[in-house]
Amino acid sequence: MSQYFTEANSEETVNARMGAAVDPRLREIMTALVRHLHAFVKETALTEGEWGIAIDFLTKAGAMCSEERQEFILFSDVLGVSMLVDAINHRRPEGATENTVLGPFHVAGAPVRAMGDRITFDGKGETCLYTGRVLALDGAPIAGARIDVWSDNAEGFYSVQQPGIQDKWNNRGVFITGADGQYEFIGIKPVSYPIPDDGPVGKMLIALGRHPRRPAHMHFMITAPGYQRLVTHTFVGDDPWLASDAVFGVKETLIAPFVPAEDGRTRWRSPFDFVLIPDAKARAAG
Ligand code: BEZ
Ligand code: FE
Repeated sequence: MSQYFTEANSEETVNARMGAAVDPRLREIMTALVRHLHAFVKETALTEGEWGIAIDFLTKAGAMCSEERQEFILFSDVLGVSMLVDAINHRRPEGATENTVLGPFHVAGAPVRAMGDRITFDGKGETCLYTGRVLALDGAPIAGARIDVWSDNAEGFYSVQQPGIQDKWNNRGVFITGADGQYEFIGIKPVSYPIPDDGPVGKMLIALGRHPRRPAHMHFMITAPGYQRLVTHTFVGDDPWLASDAVFGVKETLIAPFVPAEDGRTRWRSPFDFVLIPDAKARAAG
């Protein structure tokens, strides 16, 4: 029996229209989406003008997207949705290093460098020796871990934001651990920077009385056979933006020491160990 749409029965009417052979997970997700969307429209008594602003926002966000720019992910980031999806999908035991947001500035294929090498080539910023170990939960070193690192330069720009100004691989590199699980490389002490804020998301932040800044951080993506991929940052502890990161990426456990270096090789030294957990396959096998 068909049911005509009313304000009172809106959610049930829309959801009842779904076919019988719909994929169960798609059914679950779309049913919940319709339920929450309709509840939101009812709670706020959304006006036609406001509905129009939302459509305009989404249209502009779509128009802004390209190979280099993903305005919808940025939207998800500033609403805390990226970090919530990350948290739900990467619940880890005590002692394992926590994940945080990947961000738009990772570039696959960075050069594999020798342990101890520099990743910074523009001569800007204060040098920092990053050093530590990649470990399993029981403290055993992980050999063959691939550590992909990237940061902004001392002016707050990633190399991909300044093609023709910075070398593509400035402040980027890949390091592979040996039997001791140790890593060491020379980068800069990163600085805080604004997320790309020249589009609709930036305008929304202004309208909401929010700033676009991220506290200074070094990005790490660590993979090792048999272990879950770790996508994370280490944060500079005295950064004034730590408590108000525009994308909610800060976790207390990821705030790393940045201490003056004693050996004169670099200005700073930042020691940090990463602890990986077995991946799903390794867990199932054993
Ligand atoms: C980043 O840390 O590179 C980043 C993360 C989310 C949005 C923009 C930038
Ligand atoms: Fe970043």
